[in-house]
Amino acid sequence: MAKKVVSDLNLKGKKVLIRVDFNVPMKDGVITDDTRIRAALPTVKYVLDNGGKAIVFSHLGRIKKAEDLAKGDMTPVAHHFEELLGHKVVFVNATRGKELEDAIAKMQEGDVVMFQNTRYEDLEGKKESSNDPELGAYWASLGDVFVNDAFGTAHRAHASNVGIASHIKESAAGFLLEKEIKFIGGAVDNPVHPYVAILGGAKVSDKIGVISELVKKADKILIGGGMMFTFLKALGHNIGKSLCEDDKLDLAKELLKEADGKIVLPVDTVCAKEFADVSGEVKDVNAMASDDMGLDIGPKTLELFTNELKSAKTVVWNGPMGVFEMKNFEAGTLGVCEAIAHLDGATTIVGGGDSVAAVEKLGYAEKFSHVSTGGGASLEYLEGKALPGITCLSEK
Ligand code: 3PG
Repeated sequence: MAKKVVSDLNLKGKKVLIRVDFNVPMKDGVITDDTRIRAALPTVKYVLDNGGKAIVFSHLGRIKKAEDLAKGDMTPVAHHFEELLGHKVVFVNATRGKELEDAIAKMQEGDVVMFQNTRYEDLEGKKESSNDPELGAYWASLGDVFVNDAFGTAHRAHASNVGIASHIKESAAGFLLEKEIKFIGGAVDNPVHPYVAILGGAKVSDKIGVISELVKKADKILIGGGMMFTFLKALGHNIGKSLCEDDKLDLAKELLKEADGKIVLPVDTVCAKEFADVSGEVKDVNAMASDDMGLDIGPKTLELFTNELKSAKTVVWNGPMGVFEMKNFEAGTLGVCEAIAHLDGATTIVGGGDSVAAVEKLGYAEKFSHVSTGGGASLEYLEGKALPGITCLSEK
């Protein structure tokens, strides 16, 4: 059944609790990628334009001990959010209590209050992350309606999503969550064929669930990145010193058998003798020496993958093809990005930190149908799992 969306709600004069995912990367207190903040702006603006009072909150990092509090401080995020929104944001440095309640009581239509990192509540007793019912009920009591726009956190059942939704009368998806459901949910439930998935990243173990699901649904699964070597070794190749999860070799064999030809593996790789940003040597996968370390897919593989993509009508890409952060081993990831960006008439979806970074680096975000803001959430969704942050919302 379809979930309510923020545009289904009557917001006039209402205190609207908006859970966003502003868990953004930061270096020395400066935000290095604000995509997630930008992605939530349409929902917040819609609430303000429709006479709502926006109470915005998110987690930032993980709070396990007192020393984590400073790193998780939302103050710089609130400032940046205010700038991007172009509208005053009253930041309350608390997750509960009088100061927060007073700030909310004073709100007029069109005002924005943002409160401190929801995971500050994890410091004593993991109240946010364990979905403590008292905390969910308390946060729910601060508003009239709940809007969840935090797709990146939708695979978590925490007090700030599931907890609030189960203690409030009406809840809905924000526009970002709606878009993620439309594209990723669409690829899971109703992909237009040919459906080609490209998976990369270091570990097979992170992607087992997705591969098992894709074996049932996709027409082709192109595998690059560090995890390709576990598959290649499972097929009997000498992979030298390349990354390998030896305890996953049997599983890789099983997946290859189950996939019955759907899994396409690299035919060449860019090798180095050490894990460093040095110029590499292209080798066929059956010609690797014992001291070779494969760090990217090779040019023949890129051509092979590009050909497999040509007729695709749905493409899902998650994970880099090589050690993308090193100049000498970024070509595979950038090449795959380029190939997908230039497809005509295909629905193209990218998720996961490094692959999204490649898209941004090449300035291709507009050329993809959907750039997901979810890491773990988009993987779990692609696995066909129900995400608690979505299922908890009111039905239309
Ligand atoms: C993410 O960055 O994947 C989300 O914000 C969830 O964060 P978490 O893995 O700490 O729950």
